[in-house]
Amino acid sequence: MAPRSQAELERLQERYDAIFQGISPPFAFVDLDAMRTNAKVLSGQASPLRIRIASKSVRSTAVLERILGLDARFRGILSFTLPEALHLARQGHEDIFVGYPTADRKALAELAALAAERPDTHPALIVDEPAHLDLIESATGRGSVPIRVAIDIDPSWWPARGRVARIGPKRSPIRTPEHARRIAAEIAERPGTRLVGAMAYEGHIAGVGDDVPGKPLRSAAIRTMQSRSLDELRARLPGVIAAIQDASDGELEWVNAGGTGSLARSKELGVATELTAGSGFYAPTLFDTYRSLDLTPAAFFCLPIVRRPHAGVATALGGGYIASGAPGADRLPQPYMPVGLTLDSDEGAGEVQTPLVGAAAKKLRVGDRVYMRHAKAGELCERFDSLYLVEGESVVDQVATYRGDGLAFL
Ligand SMILES: Cc1ncc(COP(=O)(O)O)c(C=O)c1O
Repeated sequence: MAPRSQAELERLQERYDAIFQGISPPFAFVDLDAMRTNAKVLSGQASPLRIRIASKSVRSTAVLERILGLDARFRGILSFTLPEALHLARQGHEDIFVGYPTADRKALAELAALAAERPDTHPALIVDEPAHLDLIESATGRGSVPIRVAIDIDPSWWPARGRVARIGPKRSPIRTPEHARRIAAEIAERPGTRLVGAMAYEGHIAGVGDDVPGKPLRSAAIRTMQSRSLDELRARLPGVIAAIQDASDGELEWVNAGGTGSLARSKELGVATELTAGSGFYAPTLFDTYRSLDLTPAAFFCLPIVRRPHAGVATALGGGYIASGAPGADRLPQPYMPVGLTLDSDEGAGEVQTPLVGAAAKKLRVGDRVYMRHAKAGELCERFDSLYLVEGESVVDQVATYRGDGLAFL
């Protein structure tokens, strides 16, 4: 991401201060102008492929619907749990697939009922081993309508055949055409399942920034790892997909790959018929470190300053919204405006209070506001019941997050 200049950030802060003057922090908001800019970047990188929206990275039905309305190539939802997929389907959404396996028997029984109504359009489930198929068949009662499933393929990179390292998401065990053919054939043979798609999510490319500030050696190592992995995928994936096609009853509806950080690179592998993105719409801090991405921060939370323990410290209320993943400084939220604030290295972002230090802290007074960014996208929505939506110089809507709707899917 090209960093914004101090003057630009000062103007942005003035704009947000004016827009939110009547609203008391803490609150969270999405800048729709910035989100639209990001949508153009993502769509351009994916073109001509369509983008399926990763709902875990949005976690607000209203925002999800706005995103889907931004571009004709934004179609379909990659859902993160089956109850979420059922919820979205009940709201009238179609073309949903659950990107992570489920063991939720109650939700599977509900899916079976939905499948009876929508045999060709009910949410699809991801699978990668016969135990998933057993569970689906036993919980759905091998209904007369087979459940739509997709095969998850392991895109991880195994230098020296995995003896040295196995780099990539620890998800599916399916790596080879033979393995893929076996599971595809088993899906085709079983009365309770029908194969409709395949997915290979290269998280070690899509989710790992290759331009880490102050870390040139680490960045170079990441670039090498990613380019070797892409070479390996270019050689391996076509055979895996062909084996799945061969063993399936009919044509696959889609082959899905990629994420915000890899759209152009995933497309160039040549096997995907569609890509996925979610985080790029909000552009949280973890997506600041990609050479190929120039996104505009679009999701923020605003905290009030509530005390000043001494001249160099201004303490904000709340703020301890740490992102999931391997713990590290990159999982912490970051102060964005005013410019010149950092977290305190002893306290980080606190459960109830977050002390802020740096030159700007000296000027902050009780009642002032600070604008923060989360490290990840959708997780911000687990902290707030609603999001204000900003356009131009005003708040144009206030919409519920999943949390605000009383929906804690994960
Ligand atoms: C299966 C799958 N596809 C795609 C993505 C990319 O999502 P995002 O664009 O929000 O990084 C993820 C993120 O973890 C994922 O798990």
